[in-house]
Amino acid sequence: MSNLELDASVMRFYGETANEDSRLRVSADGRMELVRTQELLRRFLPPAPARVLDVGGATGVHAEWLVKDGYEVTLVDPVPRHVESASAVCSAVLGDARDLREPDSSFDVVQLLGPLYHLPDPADRAKALSEACRVVKPGGLVAAAAINRYASLFEHVTYAHLHKERIHDSVSKILETATYDGVRGFTVSYFHRAEELVAELVAAGLTGVQVFGIEGPAWSLVKAAEQQPGEGPTDDLIASALAAARMAEPYPELLAASSHLLAVGTAPD
Ligand SMILES: C[S@@+](CC[C@H](N)C(=O)[O-])C[C@H]1O[C@@H](n2cnc3c(N)ncnc32)[C@H](O)[C@@H]1O
Repeated sequence: MSNLELDASVMRFYGETANEDSRLRVSADGRMELVRTQELLRRFLPPAPARVLDVGGATGVHAEWLVKDGYEVTLVDPVPRHVESASAVCSAVLGDARDLREPDSSFDVVQLLGPLYHLPDPADRAKALSEACRVVKPGGLVAAAAINRYASLFEHVTYAHLHKERIHDSVSKILETATYDGVRGFTVSYFHRAEELVAELVAAGLTGVQVFGIEGPAWSLVKAAEQQPGEGPTDDLIASALAAARMAEPYPELLAASSHLLAVGTAPD
């Protein structure tokens, strides 16, 4: 494990509070995130077999389908209980995205689907991306996810409490500062604009960088149907929101409404 310090809120949230294994499998927006992350990554992954480093891979929800697709996956995560669960799926080790133990040019693909959310200092995000570029082979794929700058606005509408003073002030602060202090609920976090995420991958030396809205512009309608009294979202509503995510892809204005963003780029030869 690296000697770098992680904010205590990150270890507390993932070590004690969150269940990362069920997040993508149970909640409606989590299921949308899984389906879309899968389909976007499959568009860019080299054919299997190839070596994938899943940095911040948690309990291995993505590693699981990648292994089924024929990839050889190594997962890195700083949270011991994540690494313990992921070990049932693939090779899994404790580590930090900013200081990877893996050798130079040793993976065909490096994905960071989570670490950038929890690194509010731009120098730390630059380190994580530079480490991804170091361990990926020349011409290999780097994929990095971010939480959208505006995600908390859309999310808190769904709980029908954005008009209440404490939530209103807390979400306003996130919108103004692009960070959350991790004091209550979630961890210390950074919320990206799409163009910022692209700029960070380009600054790391990646080429051909593209960015996508993962859940697309209609995810919060689905989440509202799940959160508010009633039958919950129908399969048709979820399918319709997924169709909106795909239809929105050519229109960068709509990136701002997605909950998560996924950027991909190629390491120079
Ligand atoms: C929201 S979860 C995402 C998990 C999974 N990759 C996914 O897409 O569902 C964020 C993950 O990043 C991990 N993480 C946080 N800070 C990290 C860091 N500095 N380096 C590597 N992983 C980190 C957390 O332990 C957690 O497993």
